[in-house]
Amino acid sequence: MIVRPETPGDIAAIRVVEEAAFGQSAEARLVDDLRTAGDSIFSLVAVDTGTVVGHALFSRMKAPFPALALAPVAVLPERQRMGVGSRLISEGIARGEAAGWLGIFVLGDPAFYRRFGFDAGKASGFISPYAEPHLMALLLGKSDLPTDTGIIEHASAFAKLG
Ligand SMILES: CC(C)(COP(=O)(O)OP(=O)(O)OC[C@H]1O[C@@H](n2cnc3c(N)ncnc32)[C@H](O)[C@@H]1OP(=O)(O)O)[C@@H](O)C(=O)NCCC(=O)NCCS
Repeated sequence: MIVRPETPGDIAAIRVVEEAAFGQSAEARLVDDLRTAGDSIFSLVAVDTGTVVGHALFSRMKAPFPALALAPVAVLPERQRMGVGSRLISEGIARGEAAGWLGIFVLGDPAFYRRFGFDAGKASGFISPYAEPHLMALLLGKSDLPTDTGIIEHASAFAKLG
């Protein structure tokens, strides 16, 4: 299995993965909307023998420092719990760090995301429509964030999720 940035030829397969993982089309639409708006920064696919089995998207967001939003992450149901999601997330974190982003925010289950270093406490000073414990932050690089308070705003496509 390899993890690599999406190409135009992956777009249909990404929709299939998102819809299968979530059992609905809202997340697939979110991915399309983020891409169309130019807010998709890293869109990574996990490919096994030519098939897209997983997808993770890191999008632009407003924050007091350069930060990315991680969402959605999706793995084909029959390929879950085999490390695909972890590979996608770890690869995205490494790319974000290498590109100089200072933080990543995620909304999700702390039981899953804390293994990558995401921490609800680090997100608690930021004002967002999304409250803890589901909002978590990961600091990239070795230094602390320039600030641990402020307003953060996900890309506008997220508002359609309701
Ligand atoms: C959540 C998801 C992306 C994880 O991908 P995955 O490839 O199944 O994850 P991994 O195999 O890398 O899992 C690593 C660990 O996380 C655990 N895990 C997986 N999904 C979890 C969840 N929803 N909550 C808590 N733990 C979870 C696994 O049990 C595994 O634990 P272990 O290493 O202690 O055995 C995938 O299960 C999925 O697509 N789920 C449906 C969509 C979804 O809920 N996406 C996340 C919200 S954006």
